[in-house]
Amino acid sequence: MLESLSTKVQDESRQGEAYAPSAAGGREYKKKFYIESYGCAMNFSDSEIVASILNDNGFGATGNYAEADLVLLNTCSIREKAEQNVRQRLHLFRQVKQSKPGLLIGVLGCMAERLKGKLLEEEKLVDLVVGPDAYRTLPSLIEEAETGQKAVNVLLSREETYADISPVRLDSNGVTAFVSIMRGCNNMCAFCVVPFTRGRERSRNADSIVRECAGLFEKGFREVTLLGQNVDSYYWLDEAADKTVTFAQLLEKVALIDPLLRVRFSTSHPKDITDDVLHTMARYENICNYIHLPVQSGSTRILQLMNRTYTREWYLAKIDRILSIIPDCGLSTDIIAGFCTETEQDHQDSLSLMAYSKYDMSYMFFYSERPGTLAAKRYADDVPEETKKRRLDEIVKLQNRLSHESNQRDIGKTFKVLIEGDSKKSTEDWKGRTSQNKMVIFPKAGTSAGKGDYVWVNIEDCTTATLIGNTVQEEVIL
Ligand code: 5AD
Ligand code: SF4
Repeated sequence: MLESLSTKVQDESRQGEAYAPSAAGGREYKKKFYIESYGCAMNFSDSEIVASILNDNGFGATGNYAEADLVLLNTCSIREKAEQNVRQRLHLFRQVKQSKPGLLIGVLGCMAERLKGKLLEEEKLVDLVVGPDAYRTLPSLIEEAETGQKAVNVLLSREETYADISPVRLDSNGVTAFVSIMRGCNNMCAFCVVPFTRGRERSRNADSIVRECAGLFEKGFREVTLLGQNVDSYYWLDEAADKTVTFAQLLEKVALIDPLLRVRFSTSHPKDITDDVLHTMARYENICNYIHLPVQSGSTRILQLMNRTYTREWYLAKIDRILSIIPDCGLSTDIIAGFCTETEQDHQDSLSLMAYSKYDMSYMFFYSERPGTLAAKRYADDVPEETKKRRLDEIVKLQNRLSHESNQRDIGKTFKVLIEGDSKKSTEDWKGRTSQNKMVIFPKAGTSAGKGDYVWVNIEDCTTATLIGNTVQEEVIL
């Protein structure tokens, strides 16, 4: 889905990440909560909404679970491995709870929604089970749990978008932020559990999205990523003005906040991304030239079984269309190895589609059957595990080559880079991203610019995951 740049095998979800202790934002709180987020960017964004709700109800965040009164895991169900990670983490918290009996433990997110009350039977230490549309009820559920009762709310909503809640930006770099624009998914891809855990699609009020983005810009943020399971289905009826707002129009509204605010979005379904969106991207310099376009398979037969509603040829024509409108567009994808009935030829079709599309980056998975999905009901999970892993390995090797070749093509070019902070390896270097979402490392010594500034960087070298360069001094943009 929506994660940082680099070639990654994602046979598991993002590991749990906890909020920094600064979360309390200087206010005094009676109690402390600790939250870990797993999986996609949507979950990380939801945790910021949860933090806001808890702050308003007397709970400050802590990055140290040992001092917490409430421990929350915001979970992911997309693959079996993602759920196993959370179960292991719960095992650790079981021990913490033994030495601190008043500690409340809550499971939020997709696992809560998928397993509901069953989670309480299977994991006796859990006190709260709260689905992704029920976070507003957290304060009353916590009160209930404090009396010793188990508390569950997994109602899915057709309306909830948390539009009026200002997320608390806890471990933010102060430069880039996620802004949720829609929730849920109506697509029913055969392998995917998301439509069951996140419910029906609903879009957030366009005015509240623009307000949130403008507020972030005023606080010094310079990049927003508009988030949704399927952003191109965004659709808002502005009843007062008797007008609808499409995703292309929303992109434009956000781009118009300020030319210094970069706009990204994720995730797009290939069937829904329109020419209108592509032309809007081309029209505004501050809408980044980068599209994450999950293909899932390169075989038309498999795509049909997956219920993706497009063929290989149709997808490739979409790639051609994107590059004809935005010639320097960065492209990435999601791809699954070993879906039900996948043959060697189907696998070769995935490899050749990747080579044609020249992806800069991919999230690569082997198929993991999820209970209740269309595929689990209709098809046998019949590709042996070793075959899935071998095919995934071939996909990863190809992507590494494609990423390296893509980076090598950038050597000698100059890119406008938004500085996000110190490079991981050295405080002597800055790290930032190009419009195409590639990470660039360059020496601080060559520029007076700082975090949140744009600089022009000439690319001199690269690895598979990173561009390495030097600033072009005279063209610093402040
Ligand atoms: N098995 C493997 N990968 C999956 N994805 C979704 N469901 C499954 C599954 N059951 C992948 C898809 C999707 C990404 C978020 O996770 O590639 O785009
Ligand atoms: Fe899952 Fe398909 Fe919806 Fe993406 S578009 S969340 S893969 S059902």
